[in-house]
Amino acid sequence: MSGVPAQPLQAYRGSLLSFFGDPGDGHCESDVKFIDDGLLVVENGLIKAADEAQTLLPTLPRGTPVVDYRGRLLMPGFIETHIHYPQTDMIAAYAAQLLDWLEDHAFPAEGRFSDAVHAEETAEFFLDELARNGTTTALVFGTVHACSVDALLGQAEKRNLRMIAGKVLMDRNCPESLRDTAESGTRESAALIEKWDGRARLHYAITPRFAVTSSDAQLALAGQLAARHPGVFIHSHLAENLNEVKWVHDLFPRARSYLDVYESFGLLRERAVYAHCLHIDDEDRMHMARTGASAAVCATSNLFLGSGLFDFAAARRAGMRTGLGTDVGGGTSFSMLRTIAETYKVAQLRGHRLTAWRAFYLATLGGARALGLADRIGSFAPGREADFVVLRMDSTPLIARRMKSAPTPAEKLFVLMTLGDDREIGATYIMGERVWGTL
Ligand code: GUN
Ligand code: ZN
Repeated sequence: MSGVPAQPLQAYRGSLLSFFGDPGDGHCESDVKFIDDGLLVVENGLIKAADEAQTLLPTLPRGTPVVDYRGRLLMPGFIETHIHYPQTDMIAAYAAQLLDWLEDHAFPAEGRFSDAVHAEETAEFFLDELARNGTTTALVFGTVHACSVDALLGQAEKRNLRMIAGKVLMDRNCPESLRDTAESGTRESAALIEKWDGRARLHYAITPRFAVTSSDAQLALAGQLAARHPGVFIHSHLAENLNEVKWVHDLFPRARSYLDVYESFGLLRERAVYAHCLHIDDEDRMHMARTGASAAVCATSNLFLGSGLFDFAAARRAGMRTGLGTDVGGGTSFSMLRTIAETYKVAQLRGHRLTAWRAFYLATLGGARALGLADRIGSFAPGREADFVVLRMDSTPLIARRMKSAPTPAEKLFVLMTLGDDREIGATYIMGERVWGTL
């Protein structure tokens, strides 16, 4: 996948979708920008303007190249708030539920990442797969091995991606060969922060796997490391499975709740992202909202592993920051469109309707906000980094046919999110460079 060098000034004509805010349950004009015949103008890798084509075309200097994507939809690249790259090779593994699945499939697959060559090869495939699916930023779990992070962030740097990753911390309740110690885990994480955080477009995430696999000492040192690095991410799992929740209660009997374990070790704050957040109560939700911690909603994983149904209404009432995650390999697809489709169905099962506007908001600006990166990515506001995707709108005969009886933008978006998958992604751009495409 090689990109064509960015032009100083480049324009793209097509329908445009971008968000200024959370459209909530309705379509609020001030939060959504949809332009049927729009122009996206990119200068030196950044968004310069996004508006009606007829307004912007006359303002372009003579000779500015205009790529004709009329009939297609341009939107900011998808933002993935929770995924495991080392689980790429065991996606779609048959197991009972979370704890068996970890033991039988996830841990053995992660064991192979002591081999830096395997890590490199997997990282390349993984990043190709993100590009093919229109995902331009992701918050990624490595394994316990520092070389897993070197492989992923090294490749991400070569591709000029805004990418976040961390080495897993786990010092108990997992195979011996996958354990670090409280001290070695913190030392290696500190070295990785030094090496990667803030380099090119990269960020580091302090990554305790979950409360089950870290001792009190390890969580305490992780909290201290986070306090020394306030801009660094924190990334973990929270209350995904009822047996897991019970285990955490047994391991930390004095904690009020599972969330309280993380909070007591200083692991709740902005840029702290917790995957799942299924079996939590309103007090937990308020704490997450107040501290600025975010939930990564992982619908395909929650259905596949039989974990539970995220409560959108309660999360919104509490004001929790929320993004979408595929959670590959517990999740079953790299595609954000497939993920949105399952998120919609989860909301349905909880009696909550997810509008197409909100679904695409969550996959773009909502994800950027959940990651504390909305000043750089997630929208077409001037000055943002020009990571964007072109959706075909006709990727299968059925979608092409169905679009003809979907007259409004909201109906078209709903068809896309319900029927679309990787085939919908016509092109993916990173900082104004086309890195993948069929169009
Ligand atoms: N909880 C702890 N580790 C994992 C993991 O690898 N995947 C999922 N889905 N949940 C977890
Ligand atoms: Zn996960």
